[in-house]
Amino acid sequence: MDHTGNAPFFEIAQPPQRLPVEIPGVSLWWATLAQPETAIAQWLVWLTPEERQRAERMARPSSRYRAVVVRALLRGLLAQALGRESAVSPASLRFQTGAHGRPYLTAPFADGAVRDFNLSHSGDNLLVGILHSTAPPFWQRIGVDLESLQRSRDTTRLACRVLSVSEQSTLAGLSREESQCRFFRYWVLKEAFSKAVGAGFSLGFETIDFDIDAASAPYARALPKPYRPDDWTLQFLPVDPPFVAALALGGNQESKKSEQPFDS
Ligand SMILES: CC(C)(COP(=O)(O)OP(=O)(O)OC[C@H]1O[C@@H](n2cnc3c(N)ncnc32)[C@H](O)[C@@H]1OP(=O)(O)O)[C@@H](O)C(=O)NCCC(=O)NCCS
Repeated sequence: MDHTGNAPFFEIAQPPQRLPVEIPGVSLWWATLAQPETAIAQWLVWLTPEERQRAERMARPSSRYRAVVVRALLRGLLAQALGRESAVSPASLRFQTGAHGRPYLTAPFADGAVRDFNLSHSGDNLLVGILHSTAPPFWQRIGVDLESLQRSRDTTRLACRVLSVSEQSTLAGLSREESQCRFFRYWVLKEAFSKAVGAGFSLGFETIDFDIDAASAPYARALPKPYRPDDWTLQFLPVDPPFVAALALGGNQESKKSEQPFDS
């Protein structure tokens, strides 16, 4: 099975759907976390004891349930992408986490058909991005972010902290709704980039400066050192309202430093 179809792992569940985005060596998947109980019972055995304990530590039953489904869907999608030549079991995958929580595949799959992956979830929805080994070599890292505009938040004060001066200036004169919508377009790009490099929120989001008004794709005017704008490809993803989502692809080896074992 190639990575364009649905995995056999998902036959009994509502399968993840591939987003219609044509980028060489990249697949993007959208899935609902509201899955049937029969699927979840089957998927639990794919998780390591550490992953199950992590889910059990969550206070709310809905969060526990979602943590299991996120991990199972991720495992299924990665196993599907890794198993193009011989079948790979979702249960056989092992992950480790970077210094700021970024997950990576460990050996023996770390340098296989999947070069990198990343995920984002919002409510009952999951977005997974997979960078396959067939992608151009200058893309070493993928980051994705998904946000819902439905959660009403006052973004005015946040904008002063996380947007560049130039980005902030583009919010002037907009209605509250327009301003919030624009804020989240910047936000998902910043999160996708920071997740690609594995830095999370530690990056200093105000030092990232994006132009989202270019006729083609959004691009970086400035990035914090050592990252270079020319190394990065950015894109908004075709997801339905109230969601907004973005993808970042780039070359970066820094993020592999200081990795900690997660569940191996
Ligand atoms: C953790 C962080 C990477 C993203 O957080 P988030 O947007 O809340 O969460 P997302 O759903 O987009 O992504 C979560 C997934 O990213 C992965 N992840 C965690 N840390 C990561 C990192 N440093 N780099 C890349 N991916 C990471 C994990 O797989 C995680 O899923 P899991 O916890 O189920 O394993 C980080 O950027 C952060 O803390 N951001 C601040 C969040 C915030 O302030 N939000 C306010 C919005 S206005």
